[in-house]
Amino acid sequence: MPRILALSGSLRAGSYNTQLARLASTLAPPGTTVDVATLHGIPLYDADLEEHSGIPAAVEQLKQQILACDGLLLVTPEYNNGIPGVMKNGIDWLSRADRTAIFSDRPVCVIGATPGGWGTLSAQSAWLPTLRMLGTREYHGHKVLLSHAASVFSDGAPKDETLERTLAELLTGFSDYIVQQTR
Ligand code: FNR
Repeated sequence: MPRILALSGSLRAGSYNTQLARLASTLAPPGTTVDVATLHGIPLYDADLEEHSGIPAAVEQLKQQILACDGLLLVTPEYNNGIPGVMKNGIDWLSRADRTAIFSDRPVCVIGATPGGWGTLSAQSAWLPTLRMLGTREYHGHKVLLSHAASVFSDGAPKDETLERTLAELLTGFSDYIVQQTR
């Protein structure tokens, strides 16, 4: 039974990416679970802090959440055509906590949401060199590039059936990929 952790890269209370992660948690195929995590409480990476105080509690907690799952769904915002610093910082801390156990051969899929028109395409592409470095197994079978997220997630907005179908298809494909990869 595959367990997926959807990690939102935004700290904002009204984050479209966190809302997309939550939507994913309602659309998991039968036999698969999707839990949602965020990066709240993780300090800026500082090698002096690591040397004096070790891995911060919030990083340890997120590490345990990832180790308890079979696949990681990165739900990325896009800043200036790239990866937001908050999200890269979180992944950098995790790589210091236990890069091999957390990332090596772990099935990973990247999706994202933006109020803009390009669906976080640049940010999703920008993750690839980092994921290659970390040794993850990326799933590319389906894409979720959510543009105009403000209208999708605004109060009273009608259900976006196309988004729900696309996200459900991605989750089914990713879930099958996880089973195949962990056999
Ligand atoms: C943005 N935003 C943005 N959007 C985009 O599609 N491409 C981009 O290059 C950028 N660049 C950018 C830079 C900075 C510094 C900020 C603060 C924002 C807009 C961004 O997508 C928007 O703020 C989203 O709402 C962020 O995601 P959450 O917080 O809603 O999950």
